[in-house]
Amino acid sequence: MRVSDTSDLWWKTAVVYCLDVETFLDWNGDGTGDLQGLAQRIDYLNSLGVTCLWLMPFYPTPDRDDGYDITDFYGVDSRLGTHGDLVEAIRTAKDRGMRVIADLVVNHTSHRHPWFRSARASRSSPYRDYYVWRDEPPADQTAPTFPDQEDSVWTYDERAGQHYLHRFYRQQPDLNVANPAVRNEIAKVMGFWLEMGLSGFRVDAVPFFLETLGVDGGEVSFPEPHEYLRALRSFMGRRVGDAVLLGEVNLPHEEQLKFFGGTDGDELTMQFDFIAMQQMYLSLARRDARPLASALLSRPTTSPDSQWATFVRNHDELTLDKLSEAERQEVFDAFGPEPEMQVYGRGLTRRLPPMLNGDPRRIRMVYSLLFSLPGTPVLFYGEEIGMGENLAAGGRLAVRTPMQWTAQKNGGFSTAAPSRLAGPVVEGGFSPEHVNVDAQRRDPDSLLHFMTLLIRRYRDCPELGWGRFAVLEQPYDAVLAHSCTWDSACLIAVHNLGPEPLTVPLTLAGLDSSATLVDLLCHGSTAVAQNGSAEIMLEGYGFRWLRVVHPDDRRLL
Ligand code: NOJ
Repeated sequence: MRVSDTSDLWWKTAVVYCLDVETFLDWNGDGTGDLQGLAQRIDYLNSLGVTCLWLMPFYPTPDRDDGYDITDFYGVDSRLGTHGDLVEAIRTAKDRGMRVIADLVVNHTSHRHPWFRSARASRSSPYRDYYVWRDEPPADQTAPTFPDQEDSVWTYDERAGQHYLHRFYRQQPDLNVANPAVRNEIAKVMGFWLEMGLSGFRVDAVPFFLETLGVDGGEVSFPEPHEYLRALRSFMGRRVGDAVLLGEVNLPHEEQLKFFGGTDGDELTMQFDFIAMQQMYLSLARRDARPLASALLSRPTTSPDSQWATFVRNHDELTLDKLSEAERQEVFDAFGPEPEMQVYGRGLTRRLPPMLNGDPRRIRMVYSLLFSLPGTPVLFYGEEIGMGENLAAGGRLAVRTPMQWTAQKNGGFSTAAPSRLAGPVVEGGFSPEHVNVDAQRRDPDSLLHFMTLLIRRYRDCPELGWGRFAVLEQPYDAVLAHSCTWDSACLIAVHNLGPEPLTVPLTLAGLDSSATLVDLLCHGSTAVAQNGSAEIMLEGYGFRWLRVVHPDDRRLL
């Protein structure tokens, strides 16, 4: 494939970085992060090697759900700045070759959105049918997403005299996407932000709003819900040809295939691989790579243009909902045994480094895995320096603490009094005093430098985003040995999830002693024998990235 055939499909080899403007950097000293602060740190993100920023919701919000409850889809939360500040931040990012995407939250609005205020006030409101109403809630209800706060997805509204549907908090009434007027609104919202310079969206709660298409008035109103997703993608493509829809679809792999649009690839451009993420934690807990290997092998075949987004941690609970009860318990026991470390009976509220007791070998091994897995890696802010959580913040907020820039007051996030901050700073061993950007930038052995190296190598190896994935046979359960092959390039990665040093014998089909395996993360190389076999030495929790190099190779290593 020529470069020109692939450069439009930038998402296949992107490095995505998710951040909440509110907790990233406060430039005006009022205690809340802002868009000017973000603009100040674009160069930092650029030097880390990030190629795509994902901005969590920055819209006006009463903040019941940390910004995922929106009162104006076209607005910018005045605490964060103005449209002008947002455009400046996007322009600065683009100038450094970075794209910007943002959350598109169209499953619901805030209950304070003018549409819902009007809808609940009168049955004859033009907005009444923007939401889903029932006189009596149906007998077979789906379970609420936040079971600690809600016991039903239907709430009776006194003013409206009816029940309304809300998959999340009751302050987030679900939009009735079966209504063509709502679908027009959604298209306009997308069109607006694309014109403002966004390169696509992280689409919130996709299966939920697709499901709503089928429940209008108890009738199936949209014959094939996926037609709607196809229509959204094609609308977006007409506006900005290379924009992406990165969908949140936490479903088994076979079901995710439908959300890609099968092998036609004409619905979501990318989807998070929640299954591989959950199995990875099971693998880490067991020190056994097999659950992760089987998850990766169970990915269905997609269109070559579709892409899996891989991640270690996101802004929500670390959900383990797709593990069995017993498997989930194993992960809880290993990484979050205390009740305050768990939430909704299905997830953990911790970040990776504290879960691994700060063991630098294991932390680096996990991020090496992340960047060597087939797909597009997504980082959550602070992962690059190994931030921890603040459990006292409660539930999902534990991992949404201010970014730690320096060892100074408030971790350099803000000059405001600590009591005015958007969230509490991390305390204890992972506090800014011990974990911050400033110190790690000066330390060549820091996690930040290591992550920068991983990102550089990921970007040097397009086979990781594009390639054919294979698990390589070898005798150790603790080891994942895999290869990604694309065009004439092949990367072999070997990770030891256990504490014992091992020598891993590999047999590499099609190779002979003319090939060498050259280390990409350190100096070194391994010879291949005439019969294609090679012996890879690994420390406990060790890892190697090996480029297959032939004598006539002109690749830069
Ligand atoms: C998924 C988001 O990731 C989560 O943070 C939010 O609470 C729900 N969707 C509702 O928007």
